[in-house]
Amino acid sequence: MESLIIAPSILAANFAELGSEIDMLNASQAEWIHVDVMDGMFVPNISFGFPVLEAVNKRANKVLDVHLMIEKPERYLEAFAKAGAQVLTVHYETCPHLHRTVQQIKDLGCLAGVALNPSTPVHVLEDIISDLNLVLIMSVNPGFGGQKFIPNAIKKTKEVAELAASKGVTKLKIEIDGGVSISNAPDLIHAGANVLVAGNFVFSSPNPIDTIANLVKLGN
Ligand code: DX5
Ligand code: ZN
Repeated sequence: MESLIIAPSILAANFAELGSEIDMLNASQAEWIHVDVMDGMFVPNISFGFPVLEAVNKRANKVLDVHLMIEKPERYLEAFAKAGAQVLTVHYETCPHLHRTVQQIKDLGCLAGVALNPSTPVHVLEDIISDLNLVLIMSVNPGFGGQKFIPNAIKKTKEVAELAASKGVTKLKIEIDGGVSISNAPDLIHAGANVLVAGNFVFSSPNPIDTIANLVKLGN
């Protein structure tokens, strides 16, 4: 398998010390930095937007993996790409014209991802999976960090891997987001996950750099 990518979510970072948190991630084995954008409409919480992403982009030397939990994300794709997003993931539940939205993301030169809420079945991706670079399985209901992992995500991971194989899609990133820790990561990897988001598990640990290294090791 391709090497496992760990994507710490800066939603769990200390925002008053964001620069040094990014420096820590730069020094770690994390390949991506996961950036959660919330609009208070699609999800009940509001996080941060362009000025923060731009500042993170200036400081970070990692891939910025932007997870848009916003309604009508097509309004802002170009602005997110300009602000530094290299991976842009939209929610299936927010995109009636998903095929067009995915093409727009690719035209901007970004990797295109689609996220599924815990209650959205995998089969809705049947006619779009061949166009995707990434599928994000939500293993909590989106909106907040620090929630409890929903184990059904393991089954859904396997279903995405099987759907991709059945369509001859070989390079798909399968990313899991929410409540990921060292205890559920092995099952997720076994099911086919190759990108793991981790917020609180990384930032609340005594030594985040070691925690990231321990997660990376699971993929070896
Ligand atoms: C939840 C976000 C997640 C969150 C993960 O809506 O999409 O990326 O930051 O945080 P943890 O790992 O703490 O559940
Ligand atoms: Zn996220």
